Amino acid sequence: MDKRKARIISTGSYLPEKVLSNKDLETIVDTTDEWIQTRTGMKERRIASDDQFSSTLGALAAKKALEKANMSVHDIDFIIVATLSPDYIFPSTGCLIQEELGASCAAVDIQAACSGNLFALSMAKAYIESGMYNNILVIASEKLSSITDYEDRGTCILFGDGAAASIVSNKGSGLSIEEISLGSDGSQQHLLWMPGGGCREPASEQTVKDRKHFIKMSGREVFKHAVRRMESAAEECVSKLNLSEDDIAYIVPHQANVRIIEAVAKRFRVPMERVYMTIHKYGNTSSSACAIALDEFLGEQKLKDGENLLMVAFGAGFTWGSAVLKKVKE
Ligand code: ACO
Repeated sequence: MDKRKARIISTGSYLPEKVLSNKDLETIVDTTDEWIQTRTGMKERRIASDDQFSSTLGALAAKKALEKANMSVHDIDFIIVATLSPDYIFPSTGCLIQEELGASCAAVDIQAACSGNLFALSMAKAYIESGMYNNILVIASEKLSSITDYEDRGTCILFGDGAAASIVSNKGSGLSIEEISLGSDGSQQHLLWMPGGGCREPASEQTVKDRKHFIKMSGREVFKHAVRRMESAAEECVSKLNLSEDDIAYIVPHQANVRIIEAVAKRFRVPMERVYMTIHKYGNTSSSACAIALDEFLGEQKLKDGENLLMVAFGAGFTWGSAVLKKVKE
């Protein structure tokens, strides 16, 4: 019997309507549209409304993926949600989305910051290929505006809200998940983190005063690690398949900084017109960034049968990951 091969058979994404432009940010912190565009490639990002949460955005993205696949939520065996901005510490955002969708399968959250979607896809691949489940909904959803410090110009210009969903199945046309490589390095945990709200520093008047419930980042340091780790993760994934750079038709990377993306593309000798970016319009939406980009890229129907695309991400932890996906028919 042929080995079961996990594939992404449908995707969907949801971005909130409200736009926060670089010009808007000029009125909030000491920055300029020109600085943000040159240093990051970002022009605007989306911000969820007061009654939209990571669960709301994730459920809306999931509904689109189900609709495109012409599937009912009752066809789904398991829901995996990647988020670093969950509605609550518990219960999981996965359980909230399960209820919102009217599903009855098991649901869980995982947390690998901006690499979350690739970690979640790797789990879905393992479950599917082991035969445990047939259809898994992988959702990456973030309301980063809820943990962004709009007094810190070094971070508030970067982040936005948004969600994407992928249906991973054992059969159907789509993107076969050929290989995924993952990595972590906890020794650099304080270069990118949120100090307050966990059991080490539970919420108190002092933690609020010290602005510890917001994302903290040493941008320059994180930048260097991001370039190095994204390049090596991508190299590892491609070489595990005995492929070379020439076998990669497109790159769909994490959308953290256009300069990081350019460095990775240069390493893989993939021209920038074959690198898919949403960074100018959505900024960095953490776990959901490369998943949203994947959904929009697939919507443009550029990938041909048999071609490979490379996804690569890096985030807090540090965590990183890369995946090679190949366009396949049923
Ligand atoms: N507007 C104007 N000036 C600014 C701004 C701003 N918004 N932010 C910082 N500056 C200033 C700094 O104060 C500094 O001034 P100084 O030289 O007088 O001290 C100068 O600009 C340069 O600052 P750097 O931090 O060195 O700027 P850099 O070119 O590194 O860009 C950035 C900063 C965009 C944050 C970049 O470092 C970056 O993209 N880092 C990586 C982000 C990333 O990959 N994150 C990973 C995933 S995120 C996740 O997991 C949640």
